[in-house]
Amino acid sequence: MRLLTCGSVDDGKSTLIGRLLHDTQLIMEDTLVSLARDSRKHGTTGEEIDFALLLDGLEAEREQGITIDVAYRFFETPARKFIVADTPGHEQYTRNMATGASTADLGIVLVDARKGLLPQTRRHSLILSLLGIRHVVLAVNKMDLVDHDEAVFRQIVADYQATAAGLGFAGITPIPMAARAGANVAAPASAMPWYDGPTLLQHLEQVDIGADSDGQPLRFPVQWVNRPNADFRGFAGTLASGRIAVGDPVVVARSGASSTVARIVTADADVAEAEAGEAVTLVLADEIDVSRGDLLVPPQARPDVAQQFAANLLWLHEDALIPGRPYHLRAGPFTCLASVTQLKHRIDVTSGEPRPARTLAMNEIGLANLDSAAPLAFDPYAENRQTGGFILVDRFTNQTVGAGMIVHPLRRAANIHLQAMAVGQAQRSVLKGHQPAVLWFTGLSGSGKSTIASAVEARLAALGCHTYALDGDNIRHGLNRDLGFTDADRVENIRRIGEVARLMADAGLITTCSFISPFQAERQLARELVGGDRFLEIFVDAPIELCMARDPKGLYAKAKAGEIRNFTGFDSPYERPHAPDILIKADEESVDQAVERILATLRAREIIA
Ligand code: ADX
Repeated sequence: MRLLTCGSVDDGKSTLIGRLLHDTQLIMEDTLVSLARDSRKHGTTGEEIDFALLLDGLEAEREQGITIDVAYRFFETPARKFIVADTPGHEQYTRNMATGASTADLGIVLVDARKGLLPQTRRHSLILSLLGIRHVVLAVNKMDLVDHDEAVFRQIVADYQATAAGLGFAGITPIPMAARAGANVAAPASAMPWYDGPTLLQHLEQVDIGADSDGQPLRFPVQWVNRPNADFRGFAGTLASGRIAVGDPVVVARSGASSTVARIVTADADVAEAEAGEAVTLVLADEIDVSRGDLLVPPQARPDVAQQFAANLLWLHEDALIPGRPYHLRAGPFTCLASVTQLKHRIDVTSGEPRPARTLAMNEIGLANLDSAAPLAFDPYAENRQTGGFILVDRFTNQTVGAGMIVHPLRRAANIHLQAMAVGQAQRSVLKGHQPAVLWFTGLSGSGKSTIASAVEARLAALGCHTYALDGDNIRHGLNRDLGFTDADRVENIRRIGEVARLMADAGLITTCSFISPFQAERQLARELVGGDRFLEIFVDAPIELCMARDPKGLYAKAKAGEIRNFTGFDSPYERPHAPDILIKADEESVDQAVERILATLRAREIIA
């Protein structure tokens, strides 16, 4: 049984687990000796042993007196084996809690009897629920500090039941405790004769959690295609759920290609069958296309396959979620780009109510529609925690920024198909006598983007090229007039322009785009939308002093006077391109020189003759 403890820093989690380990006689003699020594040095219990120190393994944590990572502990009784994840209670450590909770069967929610329910108690319970935990123990700790008063306990239980009402827990078991003294942990508490329920350990040994994967269909994510020589092609992975036997029919969820299992190979020998949790290599009877990230499933129990779906998102990073920005989505071995197309709501953790929101800050939870760059095979998280969850990873920093639990596919997307047209981009190019291109000018306001773009367009038009110009101020009067200058609005601004630029390129035009476009993620997105071979990123690099001196629209003066907020270069960032296709030094190069260089590049790339 996998357990997770959660609560606030001072509620006594580590003490509780230390107590459990001690009372099940799992602590070795020598550990006890060093524990007694450490208790005197760092502990908070005077001459007594501080069980919390048993869990706070790292020296740094001891010095700080808090737990800062997920620590897994193992113990066993004659009745059961336990794996405990001890997760920190500080608000910013929600990430670790989510890590522990995604595999746990039961959550122990600790509450300090003196304090009652705290906002974190509600937040943690919500996360437990979202991550699919159905069994909760409400451990009301430090009962000794409230004179073992039954009324205090009953009140906290009533409060918690009200809070947890909508969370879908199958069982909530409240237990009054004094963990430091061990009361109701493994041994009954004589000081609370009014309590006739089980001790924590009794409950953990008896509670029926039902195996998570009971009765679930086969889900086999392919981790790796093993092809050591021409005679062998096997698909290695770990069964996420269900079982498989030689002779079973299987299909590749995304493509629908089917075959049967010819062999199940393990490190030792071939086996006839395998079940959830086992790592095996499958050999199929037919040569079908299977690659890393594919999901092998039974033909009669297929998962959803969709590119658009709704998911609960738990945001884990200091930088808030930006709808429209592509992140790496990782679901087991599967990975592709995905973005939030719509944030439906955020959940107010205190009331549990949905609230309108445009973004999710760290530790916030919300319901979102997502769009992935490739079809994703999944089950709703509520049906299968293995195949219904994913993480979002920042493309540039590689940090995990969010965790998602899929709720359902969006049906509307399933009914939209690309329509093939009679005339294509190639024919349009022949008519025009040149290739399409997107000249993407990025740089600070006042750097000279629009001036150079306009001069380039004039030259191209004189050469007989078909052109179009997209420009920040102009587009913001029409298509994007609903957008302002917050980070999220700028991202949406550039996303839309990227889509328009793609259409323009498809129409066969050479299009100049002049937008500050301060974030590398969206410049990259625009490049991918248009196609790398037709996209030229042109960085007009002007020192901010030069832009301020020019100040063509008087905006820098206003920004300096504090009349405009979120002004790029002042209180809004500009991420410089690392490897632009063309770098223009605005303080060293004339407009004419810049135009010549751009035209030369267009000829070199055979966009114009
Ligand atoms: S972007 O950041 O979203 O790419 P965009 O290029 O469309 O910006 O628009 C920038 C233009 O809007 C600037 O040239 C300037 O004239 C005007 N503007 C008004 N307010 C701001 C602001 N707070 N920051 C930057 N530009 C602003």
